[in-house]
Amino acid sequence: MRFKKLLFSLFLASAVLLSSIVKADEGMWIPMLIGKNYEQMKKQGFKLTPEDLYNINKASLKDAIVSFGGFCTGEIVSKNGLIFTNHHCGYDAIADKSTPQDNILDNGFWAKSYGEEKPVEGLFVNFLVRMEDVTAKINAATQGLAEAQKAAAIIEAGNKIAAEATKGTHYEGFVRDFYKGNQYFLYVFEKFNDVRLVGTPPQSIGKYGGDTDNWVWPRHTGDFSVFRVYAGADNKPAAYAASNKPYTPKKFLPISIKGVENGDFAMVYGFPGRTDRFLTSYGVKLATEQVSPTIVKLRDIRLKAWKEEMDKDVATRLRLSSLYANIANYWKYYIGQTEQLKRLKIYEKKQKEESEFNTWAANNPEYANIIDRFNTVYATYAPYAIQRTYVNEGFLASAWVRQAIQAKGIVTNILENKQPEQTKERIETALKAYEETYIASADKKIFAQILSSFYNDVPRTQHPKFYTAIAQNYWTGAPEGTFQKFADFLWEKSIFTDPQRLREFYAKPSLKVLESDPGYQYAINLVPTEYVKNNLTPVLPDFEAAKADLDKVYLKALLEKNKGKLMYPDANSTMRISYGNVQNYSPQDGVTYNILTTIDGVMAKYQPGDDEFDLPQNFIEAYNAKNFGQYAENGTLVVNFITNNDITGGNSGSPVINGNGELIGLAFDGNWEAMSGDIAFDKQYKRTIAVDARYVLWCIDVLGGAKNIINELDIRKASTSSKTKKTATR
Ligand code: ARG
Repeated sequence: MRFKKLLFSLFLASAVLLSSIVKADEGMWIPMLIGKNYEQMKKQGFKLTPEDLYNINKASLKDAIVSFGGFCTGEIVSKNGLIFTNHHCGYDAIADKSTPQDNILDNGFWAKSYGEEKPVEGLFVNFLVRMEDVTAKINAATQGLAEAQKAAAIIEAGNKIAAEATKGTHYEGFVRDFYKGNQYFLYVFEKFNDVRLVGTPPQSIGKYGGDTDNWVWPRHTGDFSVFRVYAGADNKPAAYAASNKPYTPKKFLPISIKGVENGDFAMVYGFPGRTDRFLTSYGVKLATEQVSPTIVKLRDIRLKAWKEEMDKDVATRLRLSSLYANIANYWKYYIGQTEQLKRLKIYEKKQKEESEFNTWAANNPEYANIIDRFNTVYATYAPYAIQRTYVNEGFLASAWVRQAIQAKGIVTNILENKQPEQTKERIETALKAYEETYIASADKKIFAQILSSFYNDVPRTQHPKFYTAIAQNYWTGAPEGTFQKFADFLWEKSIFTDPQRLREFYAKPSLKVLESDPGYQYAINLVPTEYVKNNLTPVLPDFEAAKADLDKVYLKALLEKNKGKLMYPDANSTMRISYGNVQNYSPQDGVTYNILTTIDGVMAKYQPGDDEFDLPQNFIEAYNAKNFGQYAENGTLVVNFITNNDITGGNSGSPVINGNGELIGLAFDGNWEAMSGDIAFDKQYKRTIAVDARYVLWCIDVLGGAKNIINELDIRKASTSSKTKKTATR
């Protein structure tokens, strides 16, 4: 009886909540709490119940959604554990399986039987078993502690909670903080380590448009790839074994080939990685004026040097292409984010919000001067921000530097015969890092250029002693020649700039040799700990700690200020739902962008032989023959479409789901006009770009000839009546 009463009052509370709800397309909501959004979702066209989305007692949609490798999202689409994700999520695995002789990155690949599927070492998927609010437990564990002791106590309490929750099971768990430490959730998940590549289109389809089209609508990319999760005979997680069986999931998504229309309900279910929606105006200013332009500049240096090498031969291209794509993706991201933060006047908007906040907080001593304190903390740090960016994006960017930093631990272990097994493994890992991405000539060029632009961009008073000594000893009259000369010396002499020399060194290690190695000296003198020791960025640890403390109070205040409204927490790689609609937009006055693109647009951009806009021969043939199979609409083939869902990196590969819980596409990107989205959601411009499920199936079926995959899927076709309902208004 009392329970019913409680439920009723909860219902009333949520009815009140709904009146002041944030606009529904904005927000990355927590599946367990999605009931609070339910009325709004229903109004927008959602036909299922909250229990269909998240339920721990019976199969629900959450059981068909996986964290793919911890960096992307995938969805289960068959009763045999088949997974769809993006091409750019599978990219590393695909490139890794490619050789100049068997080049599946360029040519595509379709396994025609389980036996042909390719195991991917190190790749895993996580299924969410359940989540739970553990804020009270964490708070109890930190009660009465001094501020300085809290962080460690929170980690310890979180580990204990996770250990208790998974005791006696094969599950794993962790606790994550929300609203900058104002709320905590426990996550229990089931991790599968045997994941195999089932198929991929050639990258001329999967990455069509390349970096030119990246982050841009209208778009024409077939950004999908196909994997399968395997389990032991008991259907539980098992290390890779040829005898493992395709996993039988609790739930898989049916696929709709009925097509989409403007205004249709659309939901994205996945694992968004990181947003910074509560960043202050001071943070926006620091990013746009200092940090982001520096990142872009340093990435430019790396990308140009690598591209030169990649164009020389196929083996090098295959070796570097995954790293290159990742660096290029966020190189363009920071360009777009900076441009849009300025265009949409986010700094000014944040200032206005902060002045409103100050008015609200004036009567509350706990919150009264938060904004001023942010100002002080940023003002102290800002003069060092560019130098910091050089360390992270520049000095630490080369694989060999990271190996050099670790070398002392390895050598000590060998000499003292400590942990021989692990040490051997660390050496193998170190040498493998070179095989994967190190190109002596490119790395040398990058090294010299970064050191010399540091000279001009960072005030002399912040140059580390070691750096100043290099500049003096090698001075040629200008920084370019100077650091080139130093690079020549380092690449001739150091054991770390030549993997063969490093291998020989580890076979006969000596601390004396290591400590006098110029590469080792460079690395240990320019890494962050040394900076702090040398007092060059005295403010950095203080800045991070002070900002974290302020963020927590600021969020506490905002939660209080917004009491009674729905307020979603920043993305933190935990499972979220975003709901909204398929929706067109106007990028500028007088222009409207359609909700979808077609294969005609793919052909219009076709440039034979081009890096980014080439197409496979069988694509051209199928296009000319209008061989679109059951996937056609109005005599053409839909390729990509847009929704107003709220997503970010990590959501890549997420299913776009219609009101009936069917897969209609795979989210793979955001649009240029709203690249400021991780910091401020713009209701007018922000769009999710998805690859249409029909294009995915056409590539598998007609181009790939992989009927075996098509036969596994639950494909939902339009009834004739709903087909005729469709109009040409797009
Ligand atoms: N912008 C996409 C994302 O972050 C990744 C696209 C990868 N493609 C590329 N050309 N780098 O999800």
